[in-house]
Amino acid sequence: MLTESEILANETYIIDLLKDIKREGIRDYIHYLKNSDFFIAPASTKYHRDYPGGLAEHCLNLLEPLKLSNSRLKREEQLPEDSLVIIALCHDICKEGLYIGEYGNYRTLEGHPANNKHSILSIERIKKYIRLTRIERDVILYHMGLFSCYEYGMEYTPEDLIKAIKRHPLVQIFAAIDMEETHWQR
Ligand SMILES: [Fe+2]
Ligand SMILES: [Fe+2]
Repeated sequence: MLTESEILANETYIIDLLKDIKREGIRDYIHYLKNSDFFIAPASTKYHRDYPGGLAEHCLNLLEPLKLSNSRLKREEQLPEDSLVIIALCHDICKEGLYIGEYGNYRTLEGHPANNKHSILSIERIKKYIRLTRIERDVILYHMGLFSCYEYGMEYTPEDLIKAIKRHPLVQIFAAIDMEETHWQR
């Protein structure tokens, strides 16, 4: 569980990180976030970070490991800071508005598009506000690794995933970081 002040601190930190991004539409994206349940939503109904603020906490937890992995890449492969922030903080925006109820009794909202899509929904939502680079799109789209290929009627095949991994190593690395975080003790 997170305290109310921890939830608020995460919100403030995330907004500050996004405010530093110099990209058209980022202000509108922040406005959208502030008016959503993103900062108070859980990350799941009863498994991973199933408590208020769990979704934002999960996203924030990915940023430092992603930065570390990025710093170890060859210079020409390293992504700029704004890409890392966008990937970590926005990759699960698909879950915004998905969970209803209270801690211990969360359920998913019937008819919410995230019942049928995941990564692709995050892409659709982010793109309403800001333009993504090809690499950012690839990393977010395949952040569930092979599962991403099966989440949405096989629109993307394992061959597409392999091509994306060949285009940039963070496609595979970020999926591992995202998966690993779900196994953290807290
Ligand atoms: Fe996800
Ligand atoms: Fe995630």
